[in-house]
Amino acid sequence: MKIQTCLSGLPRHNPVLFRLLLLHLFAIAASGYGSTGPIAAAFGDDGFFCAIDASGKQEIICWRKKNSSFSSSAFPDSIPPLAIVSGGEGFLCGITSNTSRAYCWDAINSGINLVPPMFLFTPYSQIAAGQNHVCAIRGFFYSNIDYGVVDCWEIRQTPNNNGNYAMVPLYGSSFHDPSIRSLVFRKIVSGERFSCGVVKEGGVVCWGPKSADLGVSRVSGDFVTLASGRGSFCGISSASGEVECWGKADEYGVLPVGTRFVGLSAGAVHFCGIRENDHGIECWGSFNDSAIPKGSGFMAIASSDFTTCGVREVDLVLDCWGVRGQSPPDYSPPLQLCSPGTCSQGSCANGKFAFNASVLNEPDLTSLCVQKDLRICLPCGSNCSEGYFLSSVCSENADRECTACSLCQNSSCWGVCGLPSSPETRRQEQQELKNLIFIVGSSVLGSMLIIIGCCLIPQMIKTKNEEGDKNHCISCIGKQVAEADPDPNPEPPISVTPIVETTQVFRLSELKDATHGFKEFNELGRGSYGFVYKAMLSDGRQVAVKRANAATIIHTNNRDFETELEILCNIRHGNIVNLLGYCIEMGERLLVYEYMPHGTLHDHLHGELSPLNWNLRLKISLQAARGLEYLHKEATPPIVHRDVKTSNILLDSEWGARIADFGLLSADDRDLNANMESDVYNFGIVLLEILGGRKAYDRDYTPPGIVEWAVPLIRRGKAAAIIDRNVALPRNVEPLLKLADIAELTLRENSSERPVMTDVATLLDQIMKSGLAM
Ligand SMILES: *[C@@H]1O[C@H](CO)[C@@H](O)[C@H](O)[C@H]1NC(C)=O
Ligand SMILES: *[C@@H]1O[C@H](CO)[C@@H](O)[C@H](O)[C@H]1NC(C)=O
Ligand SMILES: *[C@@H]1O[C@H](CO)[C@@H](O)[C@H](O)[C@H]1NC(C)=O
Ligand SMILES: *[C@@H]1O[C@H](CO)[C@@H](O)[C@H](O)[C@H]1NC(C)=O
Ligand SMILES: *[C@@H]1O[C@H](CO)[C@@H](O)[C@H](O)[C@H]1NC(C)=O
Ligand SMILES: *[C@@H]1O[C@H](CO)[C@@H](O)[C@H](O)[C@H]1NC(C)=O
Ligand SMILES: *[C@@H]1O[C@H](CO)[C@@H](O)[C@H](O)[C@H]1NC(C)=O
Repeated sequence: MKIQTCLSGLPRHNPVLFRLLLLHLFAIAASGYGSTGPIAAAFGDDGFFCAIDASGKQEIICWRKKNSSFSSSAFPDSIPPLAIVSGGEGFLCGITSNTSRAYCWDAINSGINLVPPMFLFTPYSQIAAGQNHVCAIRGFFYSNIDYGVVDCWEIRQTPNNNGNYAMVPLYGSSFHDPSIRSLVFRKIVSGERFSCGVVKEGGVVCWGPKSADLGVSRVSGDFVTLASGRGSFCGISSASGEVECWGKADEYGVLPVGTRFVGLSAGAVHFCGIRENDHGIECWGSFNDSAIPKGSGFMAIASSDFTTCGVREVDLVLDCWGVRGQSPPDYSPPLQLCSPGTCSQGSCANGKFAFNASVLNEPDLTSLCVQKDLRICLPCGSNCSEGYFLSSVCSENADRECTACSLCQNSSCWGVCGLPSSPETRRQEQQELKNLIFIVGSSVLGSMLIIIGCCLIPQMIKTKNEEGDKNHCISCIGKQVAEADPDPNPEPPISVTPIVETTQVFRLSELKDATHGFKEFNELGRGSYGFVYKAMLSDGRQVAVKRANAATIIHTNNRDFETELEILCNIRHGNIVNLLGYCIEMGERLLVYEYMPHGTLHDHLHGELSPLNWNLRLKISLQAARGLEYLHKEATPPIVHRDVKTSNILLDSEWGARIADFGLLSADDRDLNANMESDVYNFGIVLLEILGGRKAYDRDYTPPGIVEWAVPLIRRGKAAAIIDRNVALPRNVEPLLKLADIAELTLRENSSERPVMTDVATLLDQIMKSGLAM
């Protein structure tokens, strides 16, 4: 049982280039209140999600609400490997994969199996947890016999000695119904004080104290999947593939008509389904449509009250969204791959394919199931999500394949990809597209900033080189490397660190080793993108590894990430922190950057690192300006940094200044200029910090803001008063006063009066050239 232990249970990994070919998997998965699948959610204030992992051990991964009252260490380590899970209110149940026994747990009391003693040793083939009861069908999970009689028990919250509540299993009589005991069931669901099941002969029967409120006692027809909300339940009809619902209509609202579904989940006031054709998500009831992920297909979904989580078919990564549109959703899933379906015996048939674990590129992983003779059968898709075209159809061994429209080569896919039908007009349109494309970064990208512009996703997506770790990002090869200092004049000294010309694909295992398994002592910093680690590669090179956290991965789709990577690949300059390589494996996204041994400018000016002399400060000012000038003017597309500050200016082994932490941002053309102007303003603050040696905001000064403090002094001709007296002054302070004047220019309130970065660099260059006599 692991929480947020990223892939730790998984063996060595191969590099996977962009997994644009969808992995076409999918489960007949139904979850929510009391139905079953590889992922399930517990309802209520103590709600949580659990899923079966993809390690082949069928271990259980759980995650809880963000502001949950109980601590994250509460989940027991003792949850056995399970074949299937089902969610009740505040607790979950499953069937053990080795002995088909029931196992139920909550998030509060670790290690207690909430199954009454009399049912502890009974084998079951299905289990359905409801509000405060559980029903299970007798049988064996991995068996071809998929029907049996039903046992039910209750799980009650009772006060314990500590004044808290504890869940206690009991064999109550509420669900003890002799007429039900005589029926043989194939599938069951449980809701609030009711259970319903598909009878072997067909039709659905409901029982329990509140079953009368459903308004149906017996439904005819056969159903492949059932899911239950609090007072309602829905099923996917075997005949039509469409959903039908019963019970409180305000929970499920207006049903989708004419859409075939293969998966189903139920929340408190909404249901969601997985469409058969493209495995996309569709919801009904009360929900916020814009919160539902549009670009990716899913294989399995589960809902708690107001959040739905699913296993993405493209990469088996977990994704959660709040159906009320709360952003971020209540639940943030761990970065761990999960099983797309449940394991079963026998071969797959009827439009299903056997999930082949080799698509995960895990050499040691031959199956996601605990036993070799088991397989995961998933329904094939027939269509692809928007932005992808169908490149191969379903077979017994593989789902249909979807390929990104950026790889569309000929007329066979122009239609679905929305491309014009002749190559000439297509070329034209692509050109137009180039001028138009804006890469929309999500707020979660945080410090990874926005870029405007044109880089399409071209060839780099293409290949997975079997040779392993020396793959190249194709579009980076042969790219002219920008000169660090185009000025032939050898003064001022500019960093001479060699610039790499190609971007390398790293193995996850390699980076794991290089960071001692992403251990904390290797941490260089953390941001909204994720953690940054110091790493020593096997060839002795020191690098910095940026590892995307789950939120970043979930909120940026692969295509955005590829576009971003493509742009980062093409950016090379001696005054920025260059990208050396990347790794995309097993749902992880890692970026490998040059390592900057002398740390951040911030730490030298305000922290524990050695203070900097004036020569170095001037040189750093100029080089940082050149780095920004490059991003604004020479990079294609232009990059606005949007977070220019001393902690994003790093110092390389030669004490050269490098701009770090730029990335992709969304903006339109108008914003681009406005944002460049704000970069210039923020650079002005950096100049003041360099000059004054004080922080941008410091309560020891009046006023505490450096701009309000310094700019009036500079404007009154008293710039000397702001110069850092902790460093020996040069004999001639004139260059420093000029630096103050440049800072003042960049800090003009009227942004159109500010110089552009090129002007700033030129002015700083002149100061450097005039020399600084010490
Ligand atoms: C959750 O916790 C964060 C930080 O502790 C807090 O800012 C936020 O308001 C809380 N949200 C809710 C819904 O309680
Ligand atoms: C089944 O698995 C559980 C938990 O891993 C273990 O305690 C138990 O001994 C196993 N039972 C058998 C019969 O292998
Ligand atoms: C719906 O969700 C979107 C995205 O999460 C959010 O921006 C919007 O405010 C939500 N709308 C409502 C009515 O909650
Ligand atoms: C899974 O895919 C690999 C590689 O494509 C293939 O060699 C293997 O035979 C497949 N396994 C099954 C069970 O189809
Ligand atoms: C296939 O998917 C596309 C977009 O995802 C959709 O517009 C189209 O109607 C779908 N076609 C079928 C036959 O379902
Ligand atoms: C179109 O290109 C794909 C590969 O990109 C190829 O498999 C297919 O045969 C081509 N179709 C036509 C009509 O040329
Ligand atoms: C900003 O400066 C520009 C150019 O000097 C000038 O045209 C404009 O009127 C100024 N705007 C304000 C609000 O002062």
